[in-house]
Amino acid sequence: MQITVTSGAPKELHAGALVVPVFADGRLDGAAHAADAALGGAVADVFASKEIKGAAGDLVLLHAAQSEPKRVLIVGLGDRAKFHAKSLATYAGAAVRYLGKRGITTIAFALPSEAAPDAAEAAAFIVEGALGGTIDSTTYRTEPEKPIVLDAIVLAATAGDTEFDRAKLEAGAERGRIIGEAVNLARILALTPANDMTPTILAERAADVAKKYGLTYHALDEAAMLAKGMGSILGVSRGSDEDARMIVLEYTGDPESKEKLALVGKGLTFDSGGISIKPAENMHEMKYDMCGGAGVIAAMGAIAQLKPKVNIIGVVPSSENLPGPRAMKPGDILHAMNGKTIEVINTDAEGRLILADGLCYARELGATKIVDAATLTGAMVVALGHAATGTISNDDAFRDHFIAVSKSTTERYWPLPLYDEFSSTVKSEIADLRNSTGRAAGSLTAAAFLKAFVGDVPWIHLDIAGTAYTDAETASLAKGPTGYPVRAFVALAEDAAKKPSAATNGASKATASVN
Ligand code: BES
Ligand code: MN
Ligand code: ZN
Repeated sequence: MQITVTSGAPKELHAGALVVPVFADGRLDGAAHAADAALGGAVADVFASKEIKGAAGDLVLLHAAQSEPKRVLIVGLGDRAKFHAKSLATYAGAAVRYLGKRGITTIAFALPSEAAPDAAEAAAFIVEGALGGTIDSTTYRTEPEKPIVLDAIVLAATAGDTEFDRAKLEAGAERGRIIGEAVNLARILALTPANDMTPTILAERAADVAKKYGLTYHALDEAAMLAKGMGSILGVSRGSDEDARMIVLEYTGDPESKEKLALVGKGLTFDSGGISIKPAENMHEMKYDMCGGAGVIAAMGAIAQLKPKVNIIGVVPSSENLPGPRAMKPGDILHAMNGKTIEVINTDAEGRLILADGLCYARELGATKIVDAATLTGAMVVALGHAATGTISNDDAFRDHFIAVSKSTTERYWPLPLYDEFSSTVKSEIADLRNSTGRAAGSLTAAAFLKAFVGDVPWIHLDIAGTAYTDAETASLAKGPTGYPVRAFVALAEDAAKKPSAATNGASKATASVN
């Protein structure tokens, strides 16, 4: 796909359509004014007719046989005063899906003058959102739906607008391409059904990413995991014929520094629940139980291209959870890599079991900060729905910093508490820990379980069960995986490189607020 930047006149854009943003106040300035003039007042007309109000998500396609481009898509951006560059991602994604379904493959996006102060950011969000709109979820059909093909994007600053800086727009567009492609990679890995996405295949995909972008890769097979004492992930893997993998990608952007941020992702390629088997309804969605792992692999690829001056390691424990004849059983006791013993109460609480060894391994590999992402609990969907990711930590300052950084992306993170009493709840009578407790605060007791494996390393747990995939298509995204947490992971990596005092370099000991 070709991405170009221009401030030429609309008729020189050579695109199948020009997408023009308007705001709810109906004031036609910048690109909206230029389009209105080129179309003989047609944009003002649609407003006057009340066909659109400029609300976020409004779309009207105008045909203009006499001018170029021949199609103008008017897109609402909502309240002008509340404009943030990230709304441009949704604007671009919605436009690509609307036009792409109608066979238009070259699209010019007009930049609103509001975006001029953050030209690079605006360009990045448009390209990221446009790429996000292209995903086709019908690839296994023998007669797939007409795919959305995007051959070229033109970022069109208003003709004569000197406020836009071409170099900034081009740099932003490149960043948007890297992030958008990473988000799509994570989504495609997750979309792939479990028979085509086993732990072995996920490890191969990670190796591909490493080779393509120059990361260090290694993966432990079950024999290597046994040698390391990773009895917790091996317990989960027992019920399946497919071998588990502990996948590792490493990026060294600052060889002088001992600081190392670990991104750890749950890579459960299919979760049947095991012996504590899940109900059949919606079980097929459990092919998405590796969204955290896919997010880590894809984010590492983006980080390798963006090259922040920071060290990052990606760790993805990957396994199936099946009720085969050798499966772990409720009551079994597993030995994790750090020596802790775990009573398996419910074999469906397997995510925390594979993460336990993943977190220990991240520490062995030198992690000085850890962020994990996992589709960990159904309780998370009950608590926050699909609106935000529960963000739980043993270090309140680290957590608040991460949430602040994430606000520069289209992803949402919301803090939840990690009180000491949850750590008491996950104690077992017979062993150190039990993997399942009552229904109360299910997402937080799961986090308290994970806390037992991070020692005193500052750590954040992201429960993406509600945000990693959607069960309905939106205007800007196909149904299915959303690419969480790729955008926030990349933002955290970039932020850590910017300020030495920030994400990878804060207090060395975890400091939670008084419980
Ligand atoms: N992968 C599931 C969590 C999940 C549920 C993610 C729904 C997305 C949508 C996880 O392994 C699981 O089964 N968790 C159990 C834990 C319980 C047995 C303590 C759950 O949430 O029911
Ligand atoms: Mn489960
Ligand atoms: Zn699971």
